[in-house]
Amino acid sequence: MNEETTEDYLAAGRLAAEVLRNGAARISPGASLLEVVECTEAMVTDEGAALAFPLNISSNEDAAHDTASPGDERTFSKHDLVKIDLGIQVNGYIADTAMTVDLGKNDLLVEASRAALESAIAMIRPGITVGEVGAVVQQEIERRGYRPVANLTGHGLAQYNLHAPPSIPNIAVSGGAVIEEGMVIAIEPFATTGTGHVSERSRVEIFQQLVVKPVRMKSARQVMETSRRVHGLPFARRWIRSDKADIALRSLVRSNILRPFPVLHDVEGSLVSQHEHTVIVTSDGCIITTR
Ligand code: CO
Repeated sequence: MNEETTEDYLAAGRLAAEVLRNGAARISPGASLLEVVECTEAMVTDEGAALAFPLNISSNEDAAHDTASPGDERTFSKHDLVKIDLGIQVNGYIADTAMTVDLGKNDLLVEASRAALESAIAMIRPGITVGEVGAVVQQEIERRGYRPVANLTGHGLAQYNLHAPPSIPNIAVSGGAVIEEGMVIAIEPFATTGTGHVSERSRVEIFQQLVVKPVRMKSARQVMETSRRVHGLPFARRWIRSDKADIALRSLVRSNILRPFPVLHDVEGSLVSQHEHTVIVTSDGCIITTR
């Protein structure tokens, strides 16, 4: 990795760490989800940086991929367990980081994903396999009495690419990819009181373009304009400047031009915690960009 690329990853990471802390501090009982999301996203753009995906705020049994809808009226409640997941890019080089804000009394569950992340980071160096990392994540979570979410994984990062190889499992798998110097990796353990498997809700707020195809409908062109603005990275329904956005989104998903990211949830009444950092693999360990 050349020096400029490293500098961009580090700059994105520094800003992401600061904005995540400030955004999380705004989450309290009675606060508006839409206001927290808009204000946190604005902290990024006010600094001259760009989002790598819409700010994810997912509560309780929802693990990921929720964000405010246009005009969202939801507020946080006493006892909510809230995941806040932020992505920032500088020249396309991404920092991806998340934490859990506990408005209830779930210290041990929150500690489970945090400890899993810390132990995973401590073992990252060239030559170990992603399966070994997954085994440690699973162990840290299970020994506290919870389950890791098996069908959510960490991931590699590349320029304007949120899901580059390798995938980092949150459970033990045999073998798997070998970690190499220069890789940039987002590690994100999820701990749950539920089944350890997430499924899709019908609620979809986040989309990403899959292919470039000409579209005729004016509202569809406005959606594609939004996607171009974010360099093909994921965008929120809320970001589209069109009063016919929903019709356009449905039609673009049906023609396989857009991929929807439905909200992912564990079973009703369960609680999911998450922590995430982005690291650059060095010759003998890693640098955490998002600390
Ligand atoms: Co991530």
